[in-house]
Amino acid sequence: MTSMAGELAKGVNRLVNLPNQDLSDLWDSIVLDQALKDQLLGQAIVNFTVRGLVPRSVLPLHGTILLVGEPGTGKSSLARGLAHKTAEAFDSSDFRLLEIDPHALGSSMMGRTQKAVSDLFSQTIAESAMSGPTIVLLDEVETLAADRSKLSLQANPIDVHRATDAVLVQLDLLAESHKNLLFVATSNFPQAVDSAFISRCDLVLNIPPPNKNACKQILVECLHGLANTFKSIGKIPNASGFESVVDAVQGLDGRAIRKVVASALALRREVAADSNMAAHASEFPRWTPGYVKRLLSPRQSRGISRYGLNLVNSYSYHRSG
Ligand SMILES: Nc1ncnc2c1ncn2[C@@H]1O[C@H](COP(=O)(O)OP(=O)(O)OP(=O)(O)O)[C@@H](O)[C@H]1O
Ligand SMILES: [Mg+2]
Repeated sequence: MTSMAGELAKGVNRLVNLPNQDLSDLWDSIVLDQALKDQLLGQAIVNFTVRGLVPRSVLPLHGTILLVGEPGTGKSSLARGLAHKTAEAFDSSDFRLLEIDPHALGSSMMGRTQKAVSDLFSQTIAESAMSGPTIVLLDEVETLAADRSKLSLQANPIDVHRATDAVLVQLDLLAESHKNLLFVATSNFPQAVDSAFISRCDLVLNIPPPNKNACKQILVECLHGLANTFKSIGKIPNASGFESVVDAVQGLDGRAIRKVVASALALRREVAADSNMAAHASEFPRWTPGYVKRLLSPRQSRGISRYGLNLVNSYSYHRSG
């Protein structure tokens, strides 16, 4: 997996040995219906138990889970946390997480993506699976398995089509030869994911935006997290007027709720410069729906993929951050 000492193979963003406390915290930080978390973890466990024992002619498991949902609903966090929870369930220190960066697989313009994809799956990932149970994160999978039916040949080089073909071929080969491998893919733009990829997924789970109670819980947990560093912030959830803040964040996704808190810290210079953040507590009664809207208006993008729309127009876009 490493080509030189300490250097990760092409396309691998990060290698994490499991279990990992940070990933455990990440899993816990995502407020989601417990039944959905249980279903997700159950599917990952079955992958490493049942799958190795039952012939594929009986259960055609591919070892692939897809999380779909609007931007900022916690999919990538859950995928990483799931890797930890799976290793923990087996009480094993043999598991590892490989995070793939599809953007690093070479330029499709240069005709290199297809080979890079094949090398990544058939060498790097297969090698890892041979040395121990491996969970592979395919974040923003629409960039790797783009829907061929929606790609026009004028706008997209033929290599983009071939990259999707390569992913499908490699998934089939790996599913046959390595049962201790689990792919966890995410997409906020499932319409752009090739249907043959979706058809190979053992579970496609929709991660919904937070409901009313979840919005409140995310806000409160974010403030409690800050209170570990800035004690006075811990009083905010009990302060009068807090319920109107809760009302103001209704309908936002989890990322946006946390960003609102970050924006509030920076909105007034006196508050931003107050190292104890004592002044921050006094900011909250000002949090009317209009105020929250003002903090958020430039970034509201629910239902629109940051990357997906670009993808359909042209595969060779650059990440804008
Ligand atoms: N349900 C939630 N509960 C708590 N925090 C959340 C929730 N959803 C999102 N967040 C927070 O929002 C941030 C973004 O989460 P994450 O990157 O996992 O979202 P995503 O669904 O992968 O987004 P995208 O589709 O844009 O990649 C993280 O800081 C995460 O903690
Ligand atoms: Mg994500």
